[in-house]
Amino acid sequence: KLYHEPYRLQAHFSPKEKWTNDPNGMVYYKGTYHLFFQHYPKASVWGPMHWGHAVSKDLIHWKQMPIALYPDKLGYIFSGSVVVDENNTSGFGTKDKPAMVAIFTHHNPKGEKANTSAFQNQSLAYSLNEGVTWVKYLGNPVLKNPGIKDFRDPKVFWYAKDKKWVMSLATKDRITFYSSPNLKDWKKESDFGQMLGAHGGVWECPDLFPLKLNGKEYWVLLVSINPGGPNKGSATQYFVGHFDGKNFTPSSNQTKWIDYGPDDYAGVTFGNTGNRKVFLGWMGNWMYANEVPTVKWRNAMTIPRELSLKLAAGDIYLASTPVKELNKIATQTLDVDALQLAKNNNIFSVIKQTPTQYVLKFNTAAVKDYAVVLSNAYGEKLVVGYDAANSRYYIDRTKAGQSAFNKQFAAIAYVPRVSLLPTSNFELLVDVSSVELFADGGLSTLTGIYFPKKPYTSLGIINNGMEIEKLQIQPLKSIW
Ligand code: FRU
Repeated sequence: KLYHEPYRLQAHFSPKEKWTNDPNGMVYYKGTYHLFFQHYPKASVWGPMHWGHAVSKDLIHWKQMPIALYPDKLGYIFSGSVVVDENNTSGFGTKDKPAMVAIFTHHNPKGEKANTSAFQNQSLAYSLNEGVTWVKYLGNPVLKNPGIKDFRDPKVFWYAKDKKWVMSLATKDRITFYSSPNLKDWKKESDFGQMLGAHGGVWECPDLFPLKLNGKEYWVLLVSINPGGPNKGSATQYFVGHFDGKNFTPSSNQTKWIDYGPDDYAGVTFGNTGNRKVFLGWMGNWMYANEVPTVKWRNAMTIPRELSLKLAAGDIYLASTPVKELNKIATQTLDVDALQLAKNNNIFSVIKQTPTQYVLKFNTAAVKDYAVVLSNAYGEKLVVGYDAANSRYYIDRTKAGQSAFNKQFAAIAYVPRVSLLPTSNFELLVDVSSVELFADGGLSTLTGIYFPKKPYTSLGIINNGMEIEKLQIQPLKSIW
């Protein structure tokens, strides 16, 4: 049955069929969240890129729509963003009926093959019917390649202070900012990052947006990088700083990652959500994305996450937690009795339903090792826990299931604990083939996918005698 095949995620978006990678063009408009996505509709591997399209009223239940953008003579449709042109600066709509405008990279495969360097250019398309059908602009490309091989993934927003559009663009080993009055004419403002952050691979999929901390405004710049992530392969780093409409200036030089796990890549935020910032990433990694053992469709998106800035250990961090809308699919919560928790060193229970959210809370200054173990009768187990000696959280999928498809897959992923508070909270979102850990209120985050032969049926909690203040098990309904 569609959406119920082996490994099909039940609380996350994945395409009905075939390939996906990056989320694209995420925007909220007229009560609907739009999610476009890198899509190859003819096979379950990467190929000539299209923009698939899905819509949601609540960020949780998705309905797949017809393909929004097809490749054309200028090339494949690579990643990019969508804005609502409320002031009709582009002239594509009217003030009463503004256009949705997509700004994306045209990737010319012929130019790539011929070993030229200018085969990635930025182009426009617009929709006058809320994203159902799209018209490509005849003046494409609007931002021509100056001779940089990697020149892609435009993310555009309206910078109200200067009444102009600002574009962040990944240009090989840095982010270049451009501005425009009308989305058609672009002027270079500045470069950022050549000497900062991680550079183990090419920079991709930037996003720049403001967030407040204690009433003060900061700007956050997300930059995906592949390879060179903290647990190998693809990952997304971020910088916190200031933006004046031209230049981005970071306030700290430390490299930080929005998610240390192997399977959260190319994520950006939804446009048009006001002060709220909702992030969503591709739940995959270029090391093995083309080989994971699903057949009908391949790859999915993370759960949408609410972003906030938090102070920890004298620095400013970006925290992420599942959006509150996830509660819409929550069923009755099981609160495990405190007495039982205190007495037992190892707590076991039967897993009746997946997806499930698990919340553990420890209220002690001396946090010891602990772990949540999901397992089946075939000896397969997924372990997610805390390593006190090294003060780090981890996902261990070395024995979680199938891994022969790629030798990099069976590994342990770590994230340092940054919170210094004695209270430790540990929130897990477990779906049929994915796990997302949000620890310490989302200050430490890890995402990983896994593929057991048969679903896990048993839950174990190892707490080494440490008192668990709270254990909550919350089964979730399928979104399909
Ligand atoms: C990131 C990425 C982007 C590019 C797209 C192509 O995963 O490499 O830089 O636009 O995927 O599918």
